[in-house]
Amino acid sequence: MNRIKDKRIVLGVTGSIAAYKASSLCSMLIKQGAKVTVVMTDNATNFVNPITFETLTGEKCLVDTFDRNFKYSVEHVQLAKEADLLVVAPASANMIAKAAHGLADDMLSTTILACDCPKLFAPAMNTRMYQNPITQDNLATLEKYGMKVITPGSGRLACGDEGEGKLPEPEVLFEHIVLALTEKKLAGKKVLVTAGPTREKIDPVRFISNNSSGKMGYSLAKVAAGMGARVTLVSGITALSQPVGVERIDVESAADMAEAVKSRADEQDIIIKAAAVADYTPSRVYDEKVKKSAEEFSIPLDRTEDILGYLGSHRREDQFLCGFSMETENVIENSKAKLTKKNVDMIVANDLRTPGAGFKGDTNVVTIITKDETKALPLMDKEDVAYHILSEISELMSGECEDKVEEVSEPVVEPKSFEEISVEQESLITEEIVETKEEAPVAEEETVAQKTVVSEDEITEPQKTVEEKIGEAVAAAIDGIKNFFEEEPEETVLEETTAEETKAEETEEDAEPEFFDEESTEGEAATEDKENESFFDEEFYDEDPVDSQEEEKDATDADGADQDSEFFKDNFEGEVFF
Ligand SMILES: Cc1cc2nc3c(=O)[nH]c(=O)nc-3n(C[C@H](O)[C@H](O)[C@H](O)COP(=O)(O)O)c2cc1C
Repeated sequence: MNRIKDKRIVLGVTGSIAAYKASSLCSMLIKQGAKVTVVMTDNATNFVNPITFETLTGEKCLVDTFDRNFKYSVEHVQLAKEADLLVVAPASANMIAKAAHGLADDMLSTTILACDCPKLFAPAMNTRMYQNPITQDNLATLEKYGMKVITPGSGRLACGDEGEGKLPEPEVLFEHIVLALTEKKLAGKKVLVTAGPTREKIDPVRFISNNSSGKMGYSLAKVAAGMGARVTLVSGITALSQPVGVERIDVESAADMAEAVKSRADEQDIIIKAAAVADYTPSRVYDEKVKKSAEEFSIPLDRTEDILGYLGSHRREDQFLCGFSMETENVIENSKAKLTKKNVDMIVANDLRTPGAGFKGDTNVVTIITKDETKALPLMDKEDVAYHILSEISELMSGECEDKVEEVSEPVVEPKSFEEISVEQESLITEEIVETKEEAPVAEEETVAQKTVVSEDEITEPQKTVEEKIGEAVAAAIDGIKNFFEEEPEETVLEETTAEETKAEETEEDAEPEFFDEESTEGEAATEDKENESFFDEEFYDEDPVDSQEEEKDATDADGADQDSEFFKDNFEGEVFF
């Protein structure tokens, strides 16, 4: 389930040596179908040329607030209205300070101030600049006003210093963006997910375990967090890194896992058991390494605790319980039996023998079984499987979910957290989707999550690009002004013309041109070395020195003046027309 497709993302890039990473991020977003508008500070153009971003996005890269080669009515305002998310990556100390104090003296800071969508800041700077109490206060101020600050990484910086201030890798920034854009269907819910294998010790060096990589459980935890839940991940030993926004409890054996889950179970709204827990454990653990001998050696095994069984018989009435079932035969039959036997609401079954399903890979093929239906999902990425499962759960619990969403939608006087703002925005969408869903006929085999997407598309306006919408607005304004000078009744003419224009435009097909070659966008991050090398040696910041470019930002402006701006220039220079 692509959660960022067609979202309008404003990517702000500031004057940091880490600016080159923004081009990889931009490329990732575009490949996933997001509509990205890049706004650079003048200083940022010393590090990466706007042409890089223009090539990646197929859109003008905005730098100058007073650029007359415009398409938007008032660009920063129009852009702010369109944006689903604003991300500043890298965010310089300077831009953080400006945003924290409401300064609006360039295109990016003005856009930040004008945007009321969720905002992410990814600071990148020298450790001393980052740790400076002034910067820390500024970051706290951003958070106070509901903006989300992505904690920078630590490591060796380009200046040679070691410490905090490193811009996270584009993949991590991408994850934060997906999270921020995910519908908050589980807002207010507490979710516990178990993941990974357990290890049952034989002696200090040997254990019994299984092939679980933990990827399915980690995907569930990550996506649940993205959907607004407070997530606890009880994890066996895996090689996976902690998902963003999730509390992780590390365990080793089945007994540890049982203890960790049982002690937290009561407070959870949803429990999903995706871990591969050992059914048997050695009856005794040897204190010393067992020596090999000529004799046969056997290990007596005891049954481990059935955690799902325990949860089913001790569950809170309003709690949702989901178990995973890994079978090699009679998958559906055996899984359905579990549903009743263990008193759970959902079993997600997978057949180890199906290609693409099961333990180690990034994909899975599952069947979601509830008491009323059995849904077989096709082969898909584990994160997508997670999204389907969680959407299904939220649908089944929907009465309660809506209550929660309404709660947080109440107007509040206190500055809101980033999560709250996201929830409010998403709740509007969720309500509309629910209504549309009733009308929209959906193929039986489609899952809830698929239905959601179909419906969401239906409730949005006919597909028009930002450029088209802006084109309409500009055309309408030109006509209005022309009519004004021809002494026709001003307001009526302007309104009528606008409506006609809009209607005419709406019937046109979406003809957004493809400006970039998907394949060729890879590796665009590298920029040419020019003059500033000496700075990198002596000075700043992020880990990898990157080359800077000659400033060419005005070249496109000079050539590209379109007819509309010429028309304004010739006829109405000095007029205030918007
Ligand atoms: C080579 C070089 C690297 C820099 N890297 C950073 C950086 O990573 N973070 C930062 O906050 N400032 C950095 N600076 C300083 C900023 O570019 C400077 O504060 C500038 O005013 C920021 O402008 P902006 O916020 O409008 O982009 C660097 C400067 C130079 C010359």
